[in-house]
Amino acid sequence: MNLLQRKTAIITGTARGIGKAIAAEFALNGANVIITDLNIDDTVLEFVNELKKNGIKAKAYASNAASNEESEKLIEEILIDFDRIDILVNNAGITRDNLLMRMTEADWDAVITVNLKSVFNMTKAVQRTMLKQREGSIINMSSVVGIEGNAGQSNYAASKAGMIGFTKSIAQELGSRSIRCNAVAPGFIETEMTAKLPEDIRNAWINDIPLKRPGSPKDVADVCIFLASDLSQYVTGQVISVCGGMQL
Ligand code: NAI
Repeated sequence: MNLLQRKTAIITGTARGIGKAIAAEFALNGANVIITDLNIDDTVLEFVNELKKNGIKAKAYASNAASNEESEKLIEEILIDFDRIDILVNNAGITRDNLLMRMTEADWDAVITVNLKSVFNMTKAVQRTMLKQREGSIINMSSVVGIEGNAGQSNYAASKAGMIGFTKSIAQELGSRSIRCNAVAPGFIETEMTAKLPEDIRNAWINDIPLKRPGSPKDVADVCIFLASDLSQYVTGQVISVCGGMQL
């Protein structure tokens, strides 16, 4: 399918996991793909070359989404290489799980800065371009934990709930210019982030999922294609869970 033909997409945290799957699926749908992550290593460059071989315009940029200055600079650089920015996926994220009793201020600050402030940084940086185009789709990678909360993840849950408030506000601010902003709330998706979970916790999670399996990065990417494409032209300010029916 070519649902994203002639669209240019920036995805943060694209070196692996869900971000990489989104880039791959967007490319399969004809989008130009801008890959950004903290470090651009050989594996990422190989991935970019694969996309290019398939006729996709793709480029990787090293940038820390948690830094306002780097985010502004990144968009300036991108606009030299690409004419437009149609889609922004704020995907970069980290966990520093602990019970509140043991959570340090550094754990709190790191998660809020990387997960939530990055969304402000990148959205603000692309805003002017999307306003000029009078078109755009912003997708924020939240989590079911941001909706339901989770013991041992108060910093992560707060950052992901904050993203939902931001999403709904930006949808209201920018809707009159046809710029849409939605959030995706994945459940338990198999990536390096969740590979850190102990086996018993992993099995308990799977057992509680009505579809009886963890999600794949592609499951999340497929919903992002819908939100990025013109199929969702009348959808904004929404949170779509991709969680196999899981309730925490
Ligand atoms: P991952 O840990 O496999 O990949 C995250 C990527 O973000 C890495 O490539 C990392 O280098 C990059 N990153 C981290 N800090 C960054 C920064 N400051 N600037 C730029 N890039 C940065 O994680 P995964 O599982 O692919 O998760 C992607 C997103 O989906 C995250 O926001 C995560 O919170 C969210 N999510 C994941 C779930 C899961 O089960 N895996 C469930 C719900 C939400």
